[in-house]
Amino acid sequence: MNVEVAVVPAAGRGSRMLDATRVVPKALLPLVDRPALQWVLEEAVAAGVRELIVIVSPGVDDLVFSHFEGMGGLDRVGDLQGISIRWVVQERPLGLGHAVLQAREAVDGRPFLCMLGDNIMPPGSPCLTRLTRSSDGRSVMALRTMTAEEVSSYGIAEVGDWLDEGVVEIVGAVEKPGPEAAPSDLGFLGRYLFNAEVFDLLAGLEPGYGGEIQLTDAIEMLAAGGRCLGVVVDEVPLDVGDPGRYLEAMTVLGLHHPETAVAYREFLASLAGRG
Ligand code: G1P
Repeated sequence: MNVEVAVVPAAGRGSRMLDATRVVPKALLPLVDRPALQWVLEEAVAAGVRELIVIVSPGVDDLVFSHFEGMGGLDRVGDLQGISIRWVVQERPLGLGHAVLQAREAVDGRPFLCMLGDNIMPPGSPCLTRLTRSSDGRSVMALRTMTAEEVSSYGIAEVGDWLDEGVVEIVGAVEKPGPEAAPSDLGFLGRYLFNAEVFDLLAGLEPGYGGEIQLTDAIEMLAAGGRCLGVVVDEVPLDVGDPGRYLEAMTVLGLHHPETAVAYREFLASLAGRG
């Protein structure tokens, strides 16, 4: 399936990264030579997306907007030449499902990729292409195997029949169930391909886990109607949500970046040598 539009919720403030995020929003924390959000938008463009809809919160919209649209605009930013970005403000922090719902008008009935702005896939990840290739008209969720500890922090899928290698029918979904209630160890890693039908489901949702409108609850409804597939990927997304994960992300991307890879590898080896 050819998908031309991606929705990127990037409204998080970054409370676990204070004091770095007192002024700079989480989306603009630098990773090697560009902000976290730019890595995500470039991942979309590499997968063939030409139109991006980015959901921001009031207070972070100005800074994020000036990074991408200021000083010569998108034609000066990384690999984003010729791409259109629409900025949509989520006025109130009512949850991820509510954030995605804000993109309804801009998506205008088309299938769309949904990419969580705080998850950065390692460069070269085939995840988005696998989502678009696996769709048979149904929505498709990227899944990865979670540890017992992680099933308390992610949405978890209930799986049905395996259709192909790495492709499974999703028959249910629970947000952050914890190890006892988890229906499987396969969780949502923050990359999704949705049909526009998801907006009707999101619009009808009551607050769920944590008192928020949950994207996972809309996935549960898609799954209950037999409208949802999962694709299991090997890559673990990077994130900038807390200091430890931020350092890991910087290290992985620094070891990959053509300008820093060789010298940085030597530097890390020299540190290891010092014990
Ligand atoms: C969100 C989703 C969750 C998903 C996760 C991926 O949780 O609600 O279902 O597994 O992103 O990162 P959050 O990280 O916002 O708590």
